[in-house]
Amino acid sequence: PQRGDSMTGPGSGTPRDLVAGSLQVIGSGQAPTGAFIAGPTFSQYGYSWLRDGSFIAEGLDLVGQTEASARFHQWVARVVLASTEGMERARATAREGGIPKVEDYLHCRYSADGSPADVDWPTFQLDGPGIWLWSLDNHVRHGGQLDAGLDAAVDDVARYLADLWATPCADAWEEYDEHVHTSTLGAIAAGLSAALAIRPPLASVDAVNHARDALDARMSVVDGAFTKWSGTSEVDASLLWLAAPYRYLDPGEPRFAATLRRIEDELISEGLGVHRYRSDTYYGGGAWPVLSSAYARVLIRRGGPGDLSRARSVMGWIEAQADEHGHLPEQVPDHAFAPDRIDEWRTLWGESARPLLWSHAAYLALRAELDAVSEVSGRVA
Ligand code: BGC
Repeated sequence: PQRGDSMTGPGSGTPRDLVAGSLQVIGSGQAPTGAFIAGPTFSQYGYSWLRDGSFIAEGLDLVGQTEASARFHQWVARVVLASTEGMERARATAREGGIPKVEDYLHCRYSADGSPADVDWPTFQLDGPGIWLWSLDNHVRHGGQLDAGLDAAVDDVARYLADLWATPCADAWEEYDEHVHTSTLGAIAAGLSAALAIRPPLASVDAVNHARDALDARMSVVDGAFTKWSGTSEVDASLLWLAAPYRYLDPGEPRFAATLRRIEDELISEGLGVHRYRSDTYYGGGAWPVLSSAYARVLIRRGGPGDLSRARSVMGWIEAQADEHGHLPEQVPDHAFAPDRIDEWRTLWGESARPLLWSHAAYLALRAELDAVSEVSGRVA
């Protein structure tokens, strides 16, 4: 079967259309400042998240749109450099074992003009700055240029994370801010590794190396597999990111391989749609295209028997989630874990965010990686 044959769902365009459409969605969702608005039509998502934006920039770099990703990285550098005094205070607080203050730490989301978003939602999330460092390194590997502002921001963020990594904060899903999350530790580890690769911050190489080793040892493992945090046995699909896209761990690394088996057993509907975690109730805990993309990218990297064809099927599933406008959602209610919890969110905020820029970027990234391996296997054949 050809890629895209599985487009029997609500999607109407061809996969080629979805590539062009995704670029258009992302392009029109990028503010003149460089910020990516996470979900321009969803009432709660009119902001630019470090996490979403960094993943979006990676997707753009993989399809050669480095000018747009460069503008995002410049936007982040401006946000960081405007926050350095607060970040210094946050570092001092963390070194004394305290929780940094809201006016000091880097926020997870900002308005397009770089001011902190005014929302009643956990704002302290340490994965975003780590994902940003990782994404910037990826940008440089795709030909992106550094400058003095970016260099300074890399130094600031690396030193900040080296001091703050053990501080409890909300996770990638903006929940449970009383815990130190394994997936967040993975994002920080990937980010610190990236900072060293980008340009060793000479004053802090030792601190960065030390933090990276220490936090790896703090990742919660139960029965050989990672869990969401220390003290729970629950697994979370954001742990997929440790292997893809971060490449912090190899898919065959024992802790990761055991985690992947659990995710496949517990969090994937019909082998394609990946859910966040078993007790998720946000919009009923449906399946997320961004996680399906990560799963498929893990399979591509593992490259075992059947992995590539499974990755193609997952991509077909993502394509089938596009609506008649070619828009991808944040999540789909198929096989929702808590179907009786969908309506309360619809009543509050309407349908789940669509389009979500990050979903489109995750599609572009998967598509680019599948195209690349197909080209190589075509040449070999
Ligand atoms: C997700 C976050 C995301 C945000 C904006 C939240 O619901 O849990 O991961 O950053 O939406 O897309």
